[in-house]
Amino acid sequence: MTPIPRPLLEVTNLSRHFGGLAALDGASFSVERGEVVGLVGPNGSGKTTLLNTVSGRLSPMGGEVRFNGKLVTGFAPEAICRAGIAGTFQLARIPDALNALDNVAVAAMYGRRRLDVASARADADRLLARVGFTGNVAAHGDQLTYFDHKRIELARALACAPELLLLDEWLAGLNPTELEDGIALVRSLREEGLTIVMVEHVMHAIRSLCGHIVVLNAGRVIAAGTPEEALADPDVVRVYLGESV
Ligand SMILES: Nc1ncnc2c1ncn2[C@@H]1O[C@H](COP(=O)(O)OP(=O)(O)OP(=O)(O)O)[C@@H](O)[C@H]1O
Ligand SMILES: [Mg+2]
Repeated sequence: MTPIPRPLLEVTNLSRHFGGLAALDGASFSVERGEVVGLVGPNGSGKTTLLNTVSGRLSPMGGEVRFNGKLVTGFAPEAICRAGIAGTFQLARIPDALNALDNVAVAAMYGRRRLDVASARADADRLLARVGFTGNVAAHGDQLTYFDHKRIELARALACAPELLLLDEWLAGLNPTELEDGIALVRSLREEGLTIVMVEHVMHAIRSLCGHIVVLNAGRVIAAGTPEEALADPDVVRVYLGESV
């Protein structure tokens, strides 16, 4: 009998405190291959802490993270990247010392694939085009627009050749036209088969991209299901009271 495949990502009872504050308080959810899962919740509900704990930037104080069935809890970020998880930061971080191309090429060189410089630069050029970057690839961060920074971050994550992509408010701060382009881009990544967990406050994006969402409040999962089901949950309506979902 063929064994039933495990979900790509399984987060079980994950906890992370900062001093006396429980930023994550026993959160559990799973992500199947090929899904786009939305992670939503009010400001300070633990969404970024959750992504950072999965990607290894923060170590959890309790609970487990399994990726492809393998326990990766508390692994170093580079080990988790090499296992196949990459993501973008809530605040884009594009070091000025490197130009747009090399910001992406470093991920191809030191991420999962270990390409040589020439191959990494060729790959970075392809990935910048893939994410719709139309600026000068030789330009540095201070010469580039906000959306350019967002696109470089996405290309840099893709250069790690992830199986699971974590997006932390990648669509935040875009104007309405850019937002539609951004949504179409994430959709095209989904159509290529990439599995994505996206933290997002833009509910229109969540509704159009995610088959399944997880709602966090005070570090706990308070609802999960399709966007229609989960956003209509009375607990979710209560925590969002006054905000438009
Ligand atoms: N490094 C840290 N040190 C202390 N407290 C922190 C740290 N990082 C996060 N917190 C706190 O943990 C809680 C959860 O923060 P987190 O950034 O995960 O929330 P979030 O859901 O991503 O919020 P937002 O929607 O505003 O980005 C908040 O109360 C935050 O102030
Ligand atoms: Mg956040």
